[in-house]
Amino acid sequence: MSKIVIAIDGFSGCGKSSTAKAVAKALGYTYIDSGAMYRAATLHFLNNRTVLTNPKDVEKSLGSMEVGFQINPNNGKQEAYLNGLNVEDEIRTMRVSDYVSEVSKIKEVRQELVSQQQKLGKKKGVVMDGRDIGTVVFPDAELKVFMTADLSIRAERRQKEILEKGDLVEIQKIIDNLDERDKTDSSRKESPLKKAEDAVEIDTSFLEFEDQVDRIVSLAKEKI
Ligand code: C5P
Repeated sequence: MSKIVIAIDGFSGCGKSSTAKAVAKALGYTYIDSGAMYRAATLHFLNNRTVLTNPKDVEKSLGSMEVGFQINPNNGKQEAYLNGLNVEDEIRTMRVSDYVSEVSKIKEVRQELVSQQQKLGKKKGVVMDGRDIGTVVFPDAELKVFMTADLSIRAERRQKEILEKGDLVEIQKIIDNLDERDKTDSSRKESPLKKAEDAVEIDTSFLEFEDQVDRIVSLAKEKI
């Protein structure tokens, strides 16, 4: 059986990551969360108080940044690491969510992370989710999916996820964050969020999680 690349793009909070993870598991593929890489870069920039408008400062921060994934020995899960430290939880905080789209606009940040993502997908057999995977990172991906869902439904799902981790965030704050990120991500100059012409669009507003996973797995099996 041949191995393919599956690119899953879409708006913030559509369930791309959990769907991509389940699709990868079903196919025995590697899952790569490109958003986690932008989030880890953002945390690094925040920690270093990087001035985003200063190219030298950005370059310096990029030079001292190592972003990647490792298996966490405590739970066996693949989690995000920044300069050798596990940052899986810290990159999901509102502090990072509120800043990530500003950092992701920067050309040099994108160049660095896109090149790492392309290396990670070189051997195929990967499911990668993000905003520009089907358009920029893997324009030749065998399967491209573009996920959408109603903003209020996305915010409710995200609130539930945050609640499950023991935190409480007002729904309006989540709606504003998702909306703001969608606008910034879609209107930026560097590889904006947009549906690739050859992507299959899936609206998950009223789909059961298992159904959206099955749909993508079936589409993948047609290509394998
Ligand atoms: O996927 P997630 O919501 O964790 O992504 C966080 C942010 O990272 C997005 O809002 C976007 O600004 C940025 N991102 C990006 N390109 C990607 C993945 C994420 O610009 N491929």
